[in-house]
Amino acid sequence: MSTLIIYATKYGCTEKCAKMLSEKLQGKVELWNLKENKTIDFTQYDKIILGGSIHMGKIQKEVTELCSKNLNQLKDKKLGLFICCMREGDTAETELNSSFPQKLLDHAVATGCFGGEFIFKKMNFIDKMIIKKVANTNKDTSAISEESIYRFGQSMNNA
Ligand SMILES: Cc1cc2nc3c(=O)[nH]c(=O)nc-3n(C[C@H](O)[C@H](O)[C@H](O)COP(=O)(O)O)c2cc1C
Repeated sequence: MSTLIIYATKYGCTEKCAKMLSEKLQGKVELWNLKENKTIDFTQYDKIILGGSIHMGKIQKEVTELCSKNLNQLKDKKLGLFICCMREGDTAETELNSSFPQKLLDHAVATGCFGGEFIFKKMNFIDKMIIKKVANTNKDTSAISEESIYRFGQSMNNA
């Protein structure tokens, strides 16, 4: 059993969560940064996990493109889909559901919202201004949900 975790990240949070998740999975696990390399050979993996982060309500376009170009291949795998985001509850669920095609969401054996982080020193000027205004904070905040990552890992291992 081998698993590929494909992720896109802007400031490193999704990469951090992908690594945390990799430690919870059984068998061989590889990580793939989608922003560094978009051409993926899925054939050698039984399980694919795909994740990205939400910025201004949207997941990275690399994630959306990967889904639309490889819909059938992804539907042949045991699939997990996750997002990193700072919204919680129903809003986070809505963000998750609008990030991936319905066919993949229906097919997925695990879906999850892993929470997120605001690390101001990593952000560009505009993002800092947006977060200060929208989230009304200028303090670093970490709200990664280890429990969600654990539960997602369990679902993948049981699939
Ligand atoms: C400019 C900006 C816009 C964001 N917009 C949203 C948003 O619309 N919804 C949300 O839930 N989180 C939003 N976030 C929070 C990010 O999803 C969170 O910081 C996440 O940890 C980023 O992960 P990354 O470092 O892997 O890109 C935003 C963050 C930034 C910096």
